[in-house]
Amino acid sequence: MSELYPVPERLLKDPKPYIATFDEYKKLWQESVDKPAEFFAKAAKEYLHWDKPFQTTMAGDFLSGNIAWFLEGELNASYNCVDRHAFATPDKVAIIHEGDDPKDVRKITYNDLLQQVCRIANVLKSLDVRKGDNVIIYMPMIPEAMVAMLACTRIGAVHSVVFAGFSADSLYDRIVDCEARVVITADEGKRGGKFVATKRIVDEALSKGIHAVDRVIVCKHTGTDVAMTLNRDLWWHEQSENARPFCPTVPVNAEDPLFLLYTSGSTGTPKGVLHTTGGYLLEAAMTVKYIFDYHPEDIYACTADLGWITGHTYILYGPLCLGATTVLFESTPTYPDPSRFWNMVDKHKVTQFYTAPTAIRALQRLGDEWVEKCDLSSLRVIGSVGEPINPEAWKWYYEKVGHSQCAVVDTYWQTETGSIVISPLPGATPTKPGSATFPFFGIQPVILEPTTGEVLQGNGVTGVLAISKPWPSMARTVYNNHYRYMDTYLKPYPGYYFTGDGATRDNDGYIFINGRVDDVINVSGHRLSTAEIESALILNSDVSEAAVIAGFDDLTGQCIHAFCTLKPSVTSDPEQLMKELVLQVRKTIGPFAKPKAIYVVMDLPKTRSGKILRRVLRKIVNNEHDQIGDTSTMADEGIIHHLIAMFNRHNANIRK
Ligand code: PRX
Repeated sequence: MSELYPVPERLLKDPKPYIATFDEYKKLWQESVDKPAEFFAKAAKEYLHWDKPFQTTMAGDFLSGNIAWFLEGELNASYNCVDRHAFATPDKVAIIHEGDDPKDVRKITYNDLLQQVCRIANVLKSLDVRKGDNVIIYMPMIPEAMVAMLACTRIGAVHSVVFAGFSADSLYDRIVDCEARVVITADEGKRGGKFVATKRIVDEALSKGIHAVDRVIVCKHTGTDVAMTLNRDLWWHEQSENARPFCPTVPVNAEDPLFLLYTSGSTGTPKGVLHTTGGYLLEAAMTVKYIFDYHPEDIYACTADLGWITGHTYILYGPLCLGATTVLFESTPTYPDPSRFWNMVDKHKVTQFYTAPTAIRALQRLGDEWVEKCDLSSLRVIGSVGEPINPEAWKWYYEKVGHSQCAVVDTYWQTETGSIVISPLPGATPTKPGSATFPFFGIQPVILEPTTGEVLQGNGVTGVLAISKPWPSMARTVYNNHYRYMDTYLKPYPGYYFTGDGATRDNDGYIFINGRVDDVINVSGHRLSTAEIESALILNSDVSEAAVIAGFDDLTGQCIHAFCTLKPSVTSDPEQLMKELVLQVRKTIGPFAKPKAIYVVMDLPKTRSGKILRRVLRKIVNNEHDQIGDTSTMADEGIIHHLIAMFNRHNANIRK
């Protein structure tokens, strides 16, 4: 059992935390689960501006999958995140853009933001985008991406942001699935001094086949020359200059969609997770306030990408709904040098800093001098998200970045949960390295026995993690595929929401997340499905079968190992083929999905009925060759020696 870290002194004063003792947290949490309707109705009135009040706080259940919150209520996300602050604090900085080059800093006030959002909302209206229409946003980490998201919500349109690391093929699939007519993009992206041909990727995606896109809005970022398609492509700046800087908001029902976000599941096709407006916005704001102990003078920075859920909830919706100053970071942790994060904290006097374990591990490796030379005394809360954080990285973060005076919040959640569901509260929760600790308000986590689904009571238990009651920010459906929503989350353990993660509740009741128990791989916090990578590999005409599994990696947490068999006629040079296969995955999904190792093998381990035994492959890549387990159901046990030999040969080649 790991050691317990008390709440640092620094957190208890100046400013005083919202929740200052563990007992206070427990009392409030109990109230939130005993009387969720009262608890969240009160919060919804306090945090959000409603154009029309709601009557019914919560309805529906997990068995029928008809969950709804704040029925009859109407509101607008853009009004809540921009207008009301633009009226109250027009000159307050809403967004600090820390450009790829550290010298490029832009500050946008709430008043500026309102005008920019209004202009683009009017541009969208002029293109006939209306309430309920889906708009694809494929953009680098620039304020215009946030403006585009808010402009959609202003007129009730539904944005679907696609992470700009996805390839043209992946982008095309998402454009087709959500039937978008308009794509918003930029000429180029910039990351770590390198340029990304964003517009060219959009063009490539749109040239792939049939889709509904008839307009592409292009924001000028680097100013490079890009090809503009006549009658389809429009320059953002030209349209925006011409548009009126005020646009009325369209109130939508609390249960109307706010956005779609595609994420990987256990099949090859990504699913469009759909979040609705009222419940999502409420918990985005509440979690920023309580989990980051956000106070009005704070400067809050989350280094995630806007293309993932963390960017949606913790760069944009949560902070802006509270009227905060949020930092948008365009670069990488090591550009131009490994002090980048810490220089940024120092420069803007950041009070809350939220990043991923992979970044923490990478910086830890590069040595303490990069962090030691920066003044980090403004920090109060430092957060981690996306994958389990190993205790060594946790301690380094706590000691070197937080100077043992900041709260480390290891926040557990998912695209589908919309906001953080398990996390410490900075002023209240004693922490343990590697533990996400305790549930947020309204969340009732349970640990289930994986095969029987029986609830494992008490402490000192390990199983799969589920949640037993609906909460406001949970995803409501999978776009155009409610069956898949039910099948993935609500059917595996009837009456519960199934997270897909394994978890342990230790003897003190602390929750530790043990990682995915389904076919999802988490590489540097990027979520990928094994089936998706396998489908990409077999697109290569030489490949007969592919099996992808997760290995462990010191830096990226998990990594991708792919085993392929070839068609009998294939005579390609194996070295060349491996390169082609890596390229194939990069092209089909995106560069971040690159396998760490590809093994071309004679056969895959299979049962007599032909099912691939991935557990055998997992043991091989994780060097547990003596723990392969029961092989009696295998069609050919002899294949194991061949696979181990291939694995060893691969590693020997790497070492050479
Ligand atoms: O496995 C869990 C892991 O990330 C998955 C969700 O991925 P995604 O939907 O892309 O959202 C990432 C950002 C919220 C989870 O099922 N995960 C997320 N946070 C943690 C985590 N694993 C361990 N500890 C965490 N704090």
